[in-house]
Amino acid sequence: MTLTELKQFMDTHKKEIDVRMPDYIETMKGPQTLKEAMTYSIQAGGKRVRPLLMLAAVSAFRSVEEQDYQAACSVEMVHTYSLIHDDLPAMDDDDYRRGMLTNHKVYGEAFAVLAGDGLLSKAFEMISTLTHISNDRKVRMVMELAQSSGLEGMTGGQASDLEGENKTLELKDLEYIHDHKTGALLTYAVTAGALLGDAPEEDIKKLKQFSRELGLVFQIKDDILDIEGDENEMGKAPGSDEGRNKSTYPSLLTMSGAKEKLVFHAEKAKSFLPGSSSYTSLLKDFVDYVAERAH
Ligand code: IPE
Ligand code: IPE
Ligand code: MG
Ligand code: MG
Ligand code: MG
Repeated sequence: MTLTELKQFMDTHKKEIDVRMPDYIETMKGPQTLKEAMTYSIQAGGKRVRPLLMLAAVSAFRSVEEQDYQAACSVEMVHTYSLIHDDLPAMDDDDYRRGMLTNHKVYGEAFAVLAGDGLLSKAFEMISTLTHISNDRKVRMVMELAQSSGLEGMTGGQASDLEGENKTLELKDLEYIHDHKTGALLTYAVTAGALLGDAPEEDIKKLKQFSRELGLVFQIKDDILDIEGDENEMGKAPGSDEGRNKSTYPSLLTMSGAKEKLVFHAEKAKSFLPGSSSYTSLLKDFVDYVAERAH
């Protein structure tokens, strides 16, 4: 496997994800403005890393089937909700996301809150209505998604991120924040892929260890890009963290220290992947993609 093969995998599946995402909302009945607000952020773009990661994990165990896209799009609903709320004035107060005005700038704060609520709920419906896996696995996916997106996962991480503003945190506290606000949902994506693929429990355990490290790599890179990234390429304004006086890997460890940690966690992630099977190389290359991305 080479990065070109990973790119091919991502390009092919991203097209399938992009085309399906708005359809899940379009077919729902309800107030038109809310549907528009939900669709606005869903269609705004984004790298679709979490659904792609889920499909990469599925393909470790079997080939991707039509309904896997529904499961994959479901995690993107949760992620998009988290971005809409993250950008609100009450949180990071950002004006641009995915190259467009943030949701609240277009639809107002109340509808941005509701659009997030609607997307989070839709995600659980999308898992519950899968018919290609056992009910046991489905319930486990619901449980894993609830845990990884709630107080013990992303929501908890976001709370600590806000409480950490205007303080100099210790590295272990920052690691908790990154692990939860970002790592938890990435871990869910990989775990869900393994559950869809009917993976044995010991593989799921290893993949969780792998994705925890990948989550740290992802957020350390996000912190680095917030300083070094190109606004046009990222579709969001750099300098958000400094503006909110957040502790980040570069602010605690200097830029070169942050880059060292990035490499450390990337190598550690790879160490949890077994030997030489083809799926392992796909996930290994995913680590390099996340570490080297420019947006
Ligand atoms: C941004 O996520 C928020 C974080 C958790 C760091 P992404 O970098 O995946 O954003 P999109 O989905 O591509 O817009
Ligand atoms: C966001 O972290 C994490 C979640 C949305 C859960 P950031 O606040 O660093 O993400 P960006 O930089 O705004 O995309
Ligand atoms: Mg934030
Ligand atoms: Mg933010
Ligand atoms: Mg950021």
